[in-house]
Amino acid sequence: MADQQAQTALGTHPPALPALRWDEPPEGPVVVLLDQTRLPAEEVELVCTDVPALVAAVQTLAVRGAPLLGIAGAYGVALAAARGYDVEEAAALLAGARPTAVNLGYGVRRAAAAYRAAVEKGEGQDGGAAAALVEARALHREDAAASTAMAGHGLTLLDELLPGGGHRVLTHCNTGALVSGGEGTAFAVALEAHRRGRLRRLWVDETRPLLQGARLTTYEAARNGLAYTLLTDNAAGSLFAAGEVDAVLIGADRIAADGSVANKVGSYPLAVLARYHHVPFIVVAPLTTIDPGTPDGAAIEVEQRPGQEVTELTAPPQIAAGAPGAAVGLPVAPLGTQAYNPAFDVTPPELVTAIVTEAGVVSPVTGSAIAELCARSRQVTMS
Ligand code: MRU
Repeated sequence: MADQQAQTALGTHPPALPALRWDEPPEGPVVVLLDQTRLPAEEVELVCTDVPALVAAVQTLAVRGAPLLGIAGAYGVALAAARGYDVEEAAALLAGARPTAVNLGYGVRRAAAAYRAAVEKGEGQDGGAAAALVEARALHREDAAASTAMAGHGLTLLDELLPGGGHRVLTHCNTGALVSGGEGTAFAVALEAHRRGRLRRLWVDETRPLLQGARLTTYEAARNGLAYTLLTDNAAGSLFAAGEVDAVLIGADRIAADGSVANKVGSYPLAVLARYHHVPFIVVAPLTTIDPGTPDGAAIEVEQRPGQEVTELTAPPQIAAGAPGAAVGLPVAPLGTQAYNPAFDVTPPELVTAIVTEAGVVSPVTGSAIAELCARSRQVTMS
């Protein structure tokens, strides 16, 4: 069961609530999420007391973004175990909640493996629950550390590719603290550039249809004082043509063994534009997003989302008068219109200038370079 707790109406630079936290009130353990469907207008926490509520939060994108989905999955297993639910059933529900971000299954498997190992050692349900929670917390910390390392490697790469600083970076979707245990992936690199005085502008794609760029990346950019400008996705072409983009920085939801990158739909067109305009196209993602078990881009399952996300404009509940607690769709197409609504697209490795991970940078992007990076680092996605 989930319930919403209104926390703060946003001022210009409000204190941040964490994207996800574990809490243990007297009524029992809970996973508390910052409800991303309500940002930027309101910071509202969503309290999940069981796995079905957490699964619903994943599917409605109240919690989202590949690294954070992994963390949520791990805490979800810990929640099921701590509350005495069937852990295997909970793990299957969580892992199947969304198909593309490989981190989700990774986090679930890590916590479930810790639970099983403890139970097999005779530590019982309580010992299993404690072990799953330790594992979820470890993944949370590791992801925060990965963010910091990616920010450093990413800025070094930007400075090498574009000597002189003053970077004008285009980004897509949302890749900051809202998707991570730390400060994020691609956004963390832009943030590091900003802190070191080397970011001239962050161009933010609005990211249709759910507007993760317009709602979430601008929210994070404003809070952190970045110079940013929002554009419609289809304005990116003229921005490149005007020579206003020095680099594209994006995240990833799954990187196949050959270096193909699944990311928020609209990333592939940016890669094509970047190549045409001789602009580096840089992917920033933790090792947990690399999936050696998926051989190539064609093997990546791309989530198809409901057509209403395209045929309707969704007004958040606090704006939709008379509909407390529920988002409301305003139709923008004739009733019955069919929509094509893949949540992600796949960029082939030859269009990716570099992949930045916490363990270093892969460039040029080839299957063998990725395999070598994974071999050097022990923390690769378990298939
Ligand atoms: O559908 P979402 O909002 O969960 O999409 C995931 C993303 O945020 C992006 O694809 C992102 O660029 C990769 S996750 C850091």
